[in-house]
Amino acid sequence: MPPAQSPPSTPDVPPPYDWRSRLTAAAGRDGGAPETPRPDWQRLPYPFVTGQPDVREFPARAWARALRDTLLPQHIHESLDDRGAADDPLLVRTLCRDVLPARGITATPDRVLITMGSRHGLRLLAEALLAPGSTVAMEEPGSQEARRCFRASGASILPLSVDEDGVRPPESFAGIDVLYLTPNHHNPTNVTLSDARRRELLARLVGHDTIVIEHDSDSELRYLGESTPALQSADSSGRIVHLGSFSEFLAPGLRLGYLVADAELVTELRDRRGAGLVHPPGQLQRALALLIGSGEYQRVVLRHCLRMRRRWEEISDAVAEYLAWTRPGPACGSSLWLRGPDDMDCRDVQVRALYRGVAIERGDVCFAAPAPPVNYFRLGFSVIPVERIRPGIRELAEVLG
Ligand SMILES: Cc1ncc(COP(=O)(O)O)c(C=O)c1O
Repeated sequence: MPPAQSPPSTPDVPPPYDWRSRLTAAAGRDGGAPETPRPDWQRLPYPFVTGQPDVREFPARAWARALRDTLLPQHIHESLDDRGAADDPLLVRTLCRDVLPARGITATPDRVLITMGSRHGLRLLAEALLAPGSTVAMEEPGSQEARRCFRASGASILPLSVDEDGVRPPESFAGIDVLYLTPNHHNPTNVTLSDARRRELLARLVGHDTIVIEHDSDSELRYLGESTPALQSADSSGRIVHLGSFSEFLAPGLRLGYLVADAELVTELRDRRGAGLVHPPGQLQRALALLIGSGEYQRVVLRHCLRMRRRWEEISDAVAEYLAWTRPGPACGSSLWLRGPDDMDCRDVQVRALYRGVAIERGDVCFAAPAPPVNYFRLGFSVIPVERIRPGIRELAEVLG
């Protein structure tokens, strides 16, 4: 029998590294509540989610053709070379010529920066314009993602209420470093900033050092009346930054967007972007330029608007029939913002609706207030097939009792 062995002496096992306190200390600031997890909506029969594409509408053939063409001799260098901090000049020219004028914006190429989605543009702006102690005024309720981004830069948020004319400007802009707005379709209510409010807001800004960030992502989605021009088109001072994106009309997964601003600010942001990701992928930039230049992108926008109008009509009718206690809201955008009965708790309804295959979005996460109202919720209608809308709203009505 072999002699009994004493157990090998184990070296001291260090405890797992405490990343949480290291990162909190290093950042020295609060990023706010984590982004709400998205349900596995592709498998649900009634996905009333927002910010997702209907992949059946994606112009797959035209995009594949554009991607193939990026490798032709006349495009291959712009597609595959390291361009330093520069963007594809063809995409920038095409944006200035074929996309921005529809929003009332006349821009020279030195005023345009290509981003990896408008959230990337927002992050670059927050890093360049904000520091701990800065103040950002923004709509309440408002974009959860934008709020997180500003808080991560150490800024505090000044909530501005919203009524049927859009955001109500503060009495004075003194001490406000940045005003963040979604003036054309307010996120999340879809209210449009009225002409009178636009004028009031621009007049009150005079004499203050506030920079305005206009987030404009789906203004073409208007089902009654005309789209309003971008706020930037009414400004001659150069202090309004316009953020746009191809997430709504192509796909959010492509991560392509743009920012239009004063040339000096664009140079600074380009430098910052260059230090991190160099430039958004050259091949994607060139493919997008070819898609827009061929006229296909404009057809995609038109087709998407028509399909979304159909969905909006269907969901508005169904809501009027089954959720008669609420008002469907403005005829634009890709979601409805609904106020439930006073005793409704959207967190509870979201869970119970999911059991019936209905995904809805909670409204409380759109508020900065520490004790937000819990009787609002949002129904996105960009991915749910039109024939499922009515049965989905009927299911939801049963959950709501
Ligand atoms: C108001 C608004 N528009 C559009 C988007 C879409 O962002 P992206 O262009 O980065 O996909 C967001 C997301 O944060 C948003 O808050």
